[in-house]
Amino acid sequence: MKNLREQINDALKSKVAIGHFNVSNIEMLWAVFNAARALGVPVIIGVSEGERDFIGVKQSVALVRSIRQEFNYPIFLNADHSYSFERVKEAIDSGFDAVIIDGAKMSFEENVALTKKCVDYKKSVNSETLIEAELGYIGQSSKVLDAIPEGVKLTRENLVHPDDAKKFVEQTGIDLFAPAVGNIHGMLRVGHDPNLDIELVGLLRQSTNVPLVLHGGSGTTDEDFVKSIDAGIAIVHISTELRVAFRAALEKTLTDNPGEVAPYKYLKNVISEASAVVSARLKLFNKII
Ligand code: G3H
Ligand code: ZN
Repeated sequence: MKNLREQINDALKSKVAIGHFNVSNIEMLWAVFNAARALGVPVIIGVSEGERDFIGVKQSVALVRSIRQEFNYPIFLNADHSYSFERVKEAIDSGFDAVIIDGAKMSFEENVALTKKCVDYKKSVNSETLIEAELGYIGQSSKVLDAIPEGVKLTRENLVHPDDAKKFVEQTGIDLFAPAVGNIHGMLRVGHDPNLDIELVGLLRQSTNVPLVLHGGSGTTDEDFVKSIDAGIAIVHISTELRVAFRAALEKTLTDNPGEVAPYKYLKNVISEASAVVSARLKLFNKII
């Protein structure tokens, strides 16, 4: 089976993107896997520090690996938004397929130093874990928002400059790059999220020559997704939309089945409702009509 790096290269060649979905529990994992499997597309499961502490770090690896093996399926695991070298080391040592060192709030120099330390560690232990890093602050929470997160600036001069991106990628040696291109973590309660700077995505792809990852996918318009994938995005992250769908389906099933106490019965419907959200996004990212 192709590894994650090979799957990403295939996606770039075909001008599609691999969907990355954050999960908090095994129900969400099944929802993502069922949707991907029905469409026959590779998929990445993301677990933030909080999500992987809730599921269990080693248990996250074991769950995804067991699905990959049992179904002989290209499903991969990413240690999303890791804020320290220790959490990155833990992910590499535990066998994650990818890990993100998130130094987006640091100065350029601090971000380079921390990211490089992670890349050096990965090399020192001969690991295949892909290392992703970020430039530009896009907010930090996957939740429904009433306003653009504090500290996020969306004009071109405040987004990532292609020269800085090139320097950052060269100095750190990362495998994947997540830039601020007008995207925000979380999703606005009303309307859609701000439009992406598609031209900038193309410029960053050229200047860095590494696969680009789009964070903060929830709330982005379909048109912006397609254009940004055409411009060089290889992976798209979705979390809030899935969380919202999961919670809405959970509330509904509990209301509809007041006497049911068996979780495996009342959660079945939650998995399929959440799966439908994943499926719609995967179709778009993989250009399946
Ligand atoms: O890493 C997680 C994602 O970037 C999720 O962003 O909640 O806006 O979909 P989102
Ligand atoms: Zn993110």
